[in-house]
Amino acid sequence: MVGLSHTALRQTVASYLPAEARTLAFTEMLSSRRLPTERIGDRPETAFVPQHEPPLVPQLLANEERFIASSLAKLAAMRPAGIDINMGCPVSKALKHNWGVALMGDPRYAEEVVRTTVRHSTVPVSVKLRTGISDDPAYLVEFALMLEQAGAAWITLHPRIAAQQRRGRARWEYVGRVRDAVSIPVVGNGDVQTAGDAIEMLRETGCDGVMIGRASAARPWIYWQVGTALGWPAPQGRTGEPPADPWEEGAEFANALRTFVEAARASFAPADASKRLRFFAHWGSRWLDFGHELWRRIGSARDLDEALAIGDAFFSVPQRMAARTTLAT
Ligand SMILES: Cc1cc2nc3c(=O)[nH]c(=O)nc-3n(C[C@H](O)[C@H](O)[C@H](O)COP(=O)(O)O)c2cc1C
Repeated sequence: MVGLSHTALRQTVASYLPAEARTLAFTEMLSSRRLPTERIGDRPETAFVPQHEPPLVPQLLANEERFIASSLAKLAAMRPAGIDINMGCPVSKALKHNWGVALMGDPRYAEEVVRTTVRHSTVPVSVKLRTGISDDPAYLVEFALMLEQAGAAWITLHPRIAAQQRRGRARWEYVGRVRDAVSIPVVGNGDVQTAGDAIEMLRETGCDGVMIGRASAARPWIYWQVGTALGWPAPQGRTGEPPADPWEEGAEFANALRTFVEAARASFAPADASKRLRFFAHWGSRWLDFGHELWRRIGSARDLDEALAIGDAFFSVPQRMAARTTLAT
């Protein structure tokens, strides 16, 4: 997620991962026009700390062979577990390059992009897609079969059409339809806000995995909660049960905020760290009753130490976290 799924969030999530979880983390979408001319790790988007992160899958906005090839050569420095091709982004910046969901409007071209990426990649290649440009599940299934034929190792489906962006309901039933049609693993995505949602998505759709986007920034301990529900041991260094009620979750947010700030401090330049912290607070605090106030106060912090002091003061009063919130924007 742009501005959100960087190393500081990935490290925060990793601190809550049950040892038995098979988890992949993704970078935000990276431009294949930009990667070839930059140094990996110079920007927060490509900074990474492998010893503190889950296996990493960089996500590419790409279509032309020369840019794909040189981007993959650059990304090798991130020791990727896989490479993901973005076929879901609906914003005009991506569409004007014929990237993102634009590729779903041209299956032959999308097929070529997958084949080319697979040819140049030494690691498995996946595709993140949407329902498509229009609400046509038969087209979606055909498209998914084409991706499999072209060599995609797995696909992640966010079942909304392009015009919805993130509004309206994610149609999990489409995840089930694609799961039934293809032989490669299918990861379901969209509107998973609680551990219960994640387990429901697995059961309802039969999908092979669940991708948790926004809720990873709100309750990164969701992975611990899922693990507990599946009978797995606690994450390394943690004992007992994960936060279970709204007040325990409110208290855990304070801990997660601290982990995030320290990881951001260690990985980013101060201005970049503060910017990422503001965005994290913007998304994550939506589930807190007074999260808008936390976000406002963190936004006024001069530096990370002041932001930490603001967080400590805010959470010195017990805070309540809702299971669900409105997710639209
Ligand atoms: C701030 C933000 C940035 C996003 N950036 C990306 C991106 O770079 N690549 C991508 O595939 N999806 C991106 N998404 C979409 C999410 O990956 C996900 O498909 C969507 O939010 C629905 O899942 P969720 O309900 O679990 O958040 C972004 C979402 C948000 C909120």
